[in-house]
Amino acid sequence: MSIIYGERVRLRGVERSDLDKFVEWINDPEVTAGLTLFLPMSSVDEEKWFDGVMQRSQEEKPLVIDMKNGKKWRLIGNSGFLNFDWIARAAEVGIMIGDKTIWGQGYGTEAMTLLQRHGFETLNLNRIYLRVHAENKRAIRAYEKAGFVHEGRMRQAVFKHGVYSDVLFMSVLRDEWNTQMKEGR
Ligand SMILES: CC(C)(COP(=O)(O)OP(=O)(O)OC[C@H]1O[C@@H](n2cnc3c(N)ncnc32)[C@H](O)[C@@H]1OP(=O)(O)O)[C@@H](O)C(=O)NCCC(=O)NCCS
Repeated sequence: MSIIYGERVRLRGVERSDLDKFVEWINDPEVTAGLTLFLPMSSVDEEKWFDGVMQRSQEEKPLVIDMKNGKKWRLIGNSGFLNFDWIARAAEVGIMIGDKTIWGQGYGTEAMTLLQRHGFETLNLNRIYLRVHAENKRAIRAYEKAGFVHEGRMRQAVFKHGVYSDVLFMSVLRDEWNTQMKEGR
């Protein structure tokens, strides 16, 4: 699998040298506000996670998100597919732009669009779905812009900081993706 290039972002494999940034992000309460992550994570935990994910199949390995920064690339987040069902040709997708300084500038939407292209055109998926906390308005908006459709709500499905939250399911099907591409979205 080679690096997947979009206009302003690219998706590549994780390097050990990325891990320090990941630890910074997953310990930042603002970044993890809408994520099902509760506990502090150390660099030792992160190393263990990395060793574990390197054992996964190629399709299930995380993908680092870099943004174009002049002639260079800058690390801004990570993403990946999980929970593959190869018979139904479905998988779940997840994303985290850990670099808060660039939130709201369309990078999350563009990375999601690139992940869809990878999922449909390379992994030959038919359905890509995601779960998002109902309060995570920025994420929901980014997913809607990337073509994800609302399909359901699990009521009070997560408990964080003493509060239950609903979890929304959103998905995009290959037919919808094809139509969006024809319309030149
Ligand atoms: C969610 C995330 C991937 C979105 O990436 P991003 O680059 O910030 O998103 P985009 O700029 O592409 O789109 C965000 C949209 O939400 C809008 N938005 C921001 N805050 C909002 C709010 N409180 N209510 C409604 N819309 C909001 C932005 O205005 C923008 O829409 P617009 O282009 O129509 O103006 C990124 O913010 C992130 O990783 N956050 C932390 C981790 C996380 O929550 N991950 C998702 C877990 S499901």
